[in-house]
Amino acid sequence: MKNIISHSFNISAEKRAKLKMHKPLLLWFTGLSGSGKSTIANAVEQALFEKGIHTYALDGDNLRQGLNKNLSFSPDDRTENIRRIAEVAALMLDAGLVVTASFVSPYKKDRANVASIVGDDNFIEIFINTPIEECERRDVKGLYAKARAGEIKDFTGIDAHYEIPDQPIIEIDTTKKSISESVALILEQIDSRLSL
Ligand code: ADX
Repeated sequence: MKNIISHSFNISAEKRAKLKMHKPLLLWFTGLSGSGKSTIANAVEQALFEKGIHTYALDGDNLRQGLNKNLSFSPDDRTENIRRIAEVAALMLDAGLVVTASFVSPYKKDRANVASIVGDDNFIEIFINTPIEECERRDVKGLYAKARAGEIKDFTGIDAHYEIPDQPIIEIDTTKKSISESVALILEQIDSRLSL
């Protein structure tokens, strides 16, 4: 950046992690609307919190009411949505937190960009692979019905595409695993990554 010179601060990410007694990590939940991303992220955060881990939850439906309220669901705006979240997550990792991020994040290139912004080692891609039929059957927010009726355009899974992750670290089909089984699976995978 022209004319911008980074200032270096005495308290480093390492010092913050030492004070918190665990490493930071980004748990990135991707999948269709209604797949169960936020539900599982919520349960994971609760389990981590109970173990004394310092956490924060970022969520599409919430962030789109504030920081990202000027963004639509066009491909470019979805890319910008995910880029901003990655930058926010990077700050939170620097602060020493274990961050859950629940975003549809339908494009591979955007998820790869998150990994490059926060660092590959900090990025845990979790694909909530619930079949669309089940997401639509649940239709918790009534959005699939609206999308089918043509009241919402570019709805992921209906008339906007979702690119399946090639090699997610964790993949969960919520028609086959309960919430507590999903939490156990995730905690087992990340446990060793949290210790200093
Ligand atoms: S993303 O594609 O840019 O990653 P994000 O996770 O922030 O999406 O927001 C998705 C949430 O917005 C969905 O859970 C759903 O509740 C709502 N939503 C509204 N319109 C759409 C749409 N066209 N496509 C997908 N989700 C939508």
